[in-house]
Amino acid sequence: MDFDVLVASSQQWSRVQADALVIVLAGEAGRKVLDKPLGEALDAALADGEFAWTPGRAVMLLRPAGLRATRLVLAPAADGSARSFHKALAGALAMLKPGGTKHLSVGLAGAQPSGDHAQALALACGDAAYLYRHTKPSAPPAPRLARATLLCESSARSALDGALSRAAHLAEGVALARECANRPGNHCTPTFLAEQARGLARKFGLRVQVLGRPQIEKLGMGSFLAVAQGSAEPMKFIVLEYAGGPKGQAPVVLVGKGITFDTGGISLKPAGEMDEMKFDMGGAASVLGTLRAVAGAKARVNLVGLIPACENMPGGRAVKPGDVVTSLSGQTIEILNTDAEGRLILCDALTYAERFKPAAVVDIATLTGACVIALGHHRSGLFSADDSLAQELQQAGEAALDPCWRMPLDEEYAEGLKSSFADVANVAGRAGGSITAAMFLKRFAAKYPWAHLDIAGTAWKSGAAKGGTGRPVALLTRFVLGREASPRRAAR
Ligand code: BES
Ligand code: MN
Ligand code: ZN
Repeated sequence: MDFDVLVASSQQWSRVQADALVIVLAGEAGRKVLDKPLGEALDAALADGEFAWTPGRAVMLLRPAGLRATRLVLAPAADGSARSFHKALAGALAMLKPGGTKHLSVGLAGAQPSGDHAQALALACGDAAYLYRHTKPSAPPAPRLARATLLCESSARSALDGALSRAAHLAEGVALARECANRPGNHCTPTFLAEQARGLARKFGLRVQVLGRPQIEKLGMGSFLAVAQGSAEPMKFIVLEYAGGPKGQAPVVLVGKGITFDTGGISLKPAGEMDEMKFDMGGAASVLGTLRAVAGAKARVNLVGLIPACENMPGGRAVKPGDVVTSLSGQTIEILNTDAEGRLILCDALTYAERFKPAAVVDIATLTGACVIALGHHRSGLFSADDSLAQELQQAGEAALDPCWRMPLDEEYAEGLKSSFADVANVAGRAGGSITAAMFLKRFAAKYPWAHLDIAGTAWKSGAAKGGTGRPVALLTRFVLGREASPRRAAR
C-alpha cells in the first residue's frame, strides 16, 4: 500500500478527489469545521436517523451532492486521540471493504492529526488490505485498497510525511508477521522462517546466519536440541543483524519463540483447537516483522533478531518427562512437562544473546495459557526486573496502540521450579503459570537488562476471524525506534 499526505484545510475537503473520503469526527466539535456540502450531508444523515454521535455509528453515502469523492464515510470518534481515530477508521474501512475503493482520503475534523494519527492510519489500512490467500484458492479477490491519503494543514505536512513513511514500513512488518503466523505448520516450517529471514537480509542489507542441527549441537544448546529431537522437520537457529546505528553501539536483541507446531510432545495436548498451535511461532514472526519495519525505515539503531525454530512432537526419539538436559548456560534442566517447550528453546537463545553485549534483550513468546487467563486477549504480559526497561516497553505499547501489562517477578515465584535431579525444573504448579515461566527464563538472562513479553493471548484471534494479529510488532518497533533518540549504555 502507498501512503501520502495532502495539504487541504477542512474547507476544501468537498473538493478532494478519491474513491472514498473518510471524515473522522473528533466528537461533536468536528461538525463546526466542515464545509457546506459536507455539513449538509451530515445534518441530513442525522435528521434521517442514519447517523449518531456514537463511536461506531459510521454512515456511508454514495455520490453525495457537492462532493468530488465517489463515497463519503462520516465516522464519529470519541475524541481526537490517535486511539479513537484508529477505532473510527477501522470501522469505516470495514464498511468500504466489500466495495471498489482503491484510493482513500482521510480527514480528521475537530483536531489536528499527529504522527500517531499517521501511524494509526497506516496500521488500520494495512490491516484492512490484508487477506490470507496462500493456501486458499477460493478466497475472494484481494482487497483493492492500494493508496491512502491523509489530509492536513500545511504546517503539519513535513512531520506527517516522515511519520507516514515510517508507518508504511511498520504496516509491512505487521503484514509479514500475520502472513507467517497464518501459514499452516506444514508450510511455515523452521526452514520457511529461515527463508523469510534470508529474504529480509537480501532486501534490506541485513546480516543473516542460519544454523542447522550440527552447528547447534556444536554450540551446546542441549535444551533447544531436546525439544527438536522428536521432530523429523529440520531445526534452525536464525540470527539476523541490522546495523543502522553507530559502529560499536550496543544493540537491542529480540528473541522470538519459533515453535512452528506445538503438539505438547509426550505431554500431548488435547485434540480440541490443537490446530491453533501453528501460531506458536508468533514470537518469531514478530521479530521478523519488527526487523522489516526498523530496517525499512533505515532507523539509526543496531538491532539483532534471534529465532530458535523447531517443532514440538511426540515420537520414539522425543524427549521424555523426567529427562535432564544441559543448557548452553551449563545449567541442567529437568523436563517435567514436555509441553513447557517454549522456555526450553528460549533459554539457550537468551544465553546466546550474551555474545552481542546487548543494551537490552526482549524475548517474545506465545508462552503460557496462564497468561491468557490472567490478561485475556487485549494486553500482552510484560515481565521484567528492570523498572526503566519495563516502563519503556509499557509506554511503547500504549503509544503504538499495542498495549501490554506488567506482571510481578518476585523471587518467591521461583520456589516451585526446584528439582531434585537438576539445577532447575521446567515447570512449577498451575498457580501463577505465566510468572513461573518468566522466572525460569530470568535465570538465563542475568547478564543484561531483560524483558519478556508473553503474547499467548494477543498474537492471534480464534473463532470466525481466526488468524494472526501481527502483534506485538507495533509495540516492538516503537520501542526500538525510541532507542534511536536516546541510546543507552551497554550492560557491563
Ligand atoms: N504454546 C503453549 C502456550 C499456549 C497455550 C498459548 C494455549 C496459547 C494458548 C505452550 O508451549 C504451552 O503448552 N504451555 C503450557 C505450559 C504448562 C505445561 C506449564 C500451558 O500453558 O499449558
Ligand atoms: Mn507447549
Ligand atoms: Zn508452545
